[in-house]
Amino acid sequence: MARLRGTEGYAQEADILLKTYESIPFDKAQERVLPLLPRPPARLLDIGAGTGRDAAGFAALGYDVVAAEPTDEMREGGRRLHAEANIEWLDDGLPDLAALRGRGVRFDVVMMTAVWMHLDQAEQRCAMPNVASLLRLRGVLAMTLRYGPVPPGRRMFEVSTGETIALAAASGLELVVEEDTPTLVKRTVPVTWKRLVFRR
Ligand SMILES: C[S@@+](CC[C@H](N)C(=O)[O-])C[C@H]1O[C@@H](n2cnc3c(N)ncnc32)[C@H](O)[C@@H]1O
Repeated sequence: MARLRGTEGYAQEADILLKTYESIPFDKAQERVLPLLPRPPARLLDIGAGTGRDAAGFAALGYDVVAAEPTDEMREGGRRLHAEANIEWLDDGLPDLAALRGRGVRFDVVMMTAVWMHLDQAEQRCAMPNVASLLRLRGVLAMTLRYGPVPPGRRMFEVSTGETIALAAASGLELVVEEDTPTLVKRTVPVTWKRLVFRR
């Protein structure tokens, strides 16, 4: 089956990426977001969940977690690494989120950590209302935006903070936090990150 756009390069590098992403402590990755979230038990969706590092961290805190990850090699690797964690893994992705939307279930929290840059502008315009439709009223969307050179073999685009905030506003999401956030893995190229948190 054709791979979802945005996932280019992940299957080939899955073995090393599983190690790299898991080397980041969950607490460190999400320490700023945790105090802003509805308390567990609450339904949490992690889109582009990668290895399930955050999904497992949230599940350990008592959240009811769905991890959507379209790259088979990442999803299956994550499932193995976090076999004990109470995570429902799903093969679904942006911009359509067809499987998730087909269920008609809404979440208290949607996470999109290091994923948005995989969508071009047209895909971002399509994705944001779909993401917002999965949030219950007063639910929280937390995302990070990546700025920096594109690694060879990957599909990434320049992301605009202003446009992302405007897209979210058009989907009924109010900005709660906009801040720079440090890069958590060692890189040879300069990459910076922005964190955005919205409430519906
Ligand atoms: C940089 S990794 C981040 C993984 C994880 N969120 C983390 O913070 O460690 C990006 C992930 O997004 C997934 N991805 C790529 N394109 C996607 C899309 N169109 N929809 C959802 N996820 C996608 C990749 O397979 C990969 O696992």
